[in-house]
Amino acid sequence: MHTSVFKNEVMEALNISKGKVFIDATFGQGGHSEEIKSLGGIVLGIEIDPDQVKKYNGNITIINGSFADLEKIAKENITLPIDGVLFDFGLSMVQLKEGNRGFSYRSQDDPLDMRMSNRGQTVAEYLHSTDGESLLEDIMKYSEDVYSQKIVDNILRFRSSNKFEKVSDLLKVLDEAMPYSDLRDRQKTYARVFQALRMVINNELGAITKGLTGAIKIVKSGGRIVIITFHSIEDRLVKKFARDHKAQINYIRNSVSSSRKLFKFERSATLRVFTKL
Ligand SMILES: C[S@@+](CC[C@H](N)C(=O)[O-])C[C@H]1O[C@@H](n2cnc3c(N)ncnc32)[C@H](O)[C@@H]1O
Repeated sequence: MHTSVFKNEVMEALNISKGKVFIDATFGQGGHSEEIKSLGGIVLGIEIDPDQVKKYNGNITIINGSFADLEKIAKENITLPIDGVLFDFGLSMVQLKEGNRGFSYRSQDDPLDMRMSNRGQTVAEYLHSTDGESLLEDIMKYSEDVYSQKIVDNILRFRSSNKFEKVSDLLKVLDEAMPYSDLRDRQKTYARVFQALRMVINNELGAITKGLTGAIKIVKSGGRIVIITFHSIEDRLVKKFARDHKAQINYIRNSVSSSRKLFKFERSATLRVFTKL
């Protein structure tokens, strides 16, 4: 079961009241959506992962698609403009633990897939088909790991005589690139590289930019765009987006990280709230 991040703060930020209409652009297991509904809001969910959609057995309408198509999905399914959009980026705990798609370095026997939508290229295919220069650019840019060059050298060496299939294949390559003997140090690089590959395979930053652009177009003046990010690359993108659109949205400061003790799963998350001008 996924536990929704900043649940109360998100509800407050969305400024919910009876009959207001919202899109939950990252439906997941519906934790935030159900809460919006229980407070009287009307919700349309968007979720890219068909397995997540299948698992949901409540009565909120979910569109199986990407928030990159937010504007189109909204136009086709609800009356515009609406009162707010929620983005809770990343993966749910269920996808990480039971996804069976290699999202977590802990699932050593999982296939190296990492596609959220089950469409497009898998990580295994990407590791075999991408030239060394592009691999280095992607891994350096999205993992920001100091051993990126060695990691790419090892990927190229491994693939010249082996096939990437499972999570354990990638872990072997990463282990050989790092000087650390301590497992905790190695895990930091595992986490960074797995996150980088997931971002590339799912074009996450491109989808975020398109989704946020769409949100500005469909939210009414005074409506809210509420965003939860989980790492600095996402957060930098959101901040840049806000700077570039400061004529259309206004940042509302919130003090969630200082106003209460955070749950462990919330500690790496940042909540950003914008009002449409
Ligand atoms: C952190 S979870 C959301 C959890 C949800 N707020 C809840 O309370 O259950 C993020 C979800 O966003 C979905 N997701 C990621 N990228 C997406 C995209 N481009 N379009 C739609 N959904 C996406 C993931 O599949 C995942 O289910």
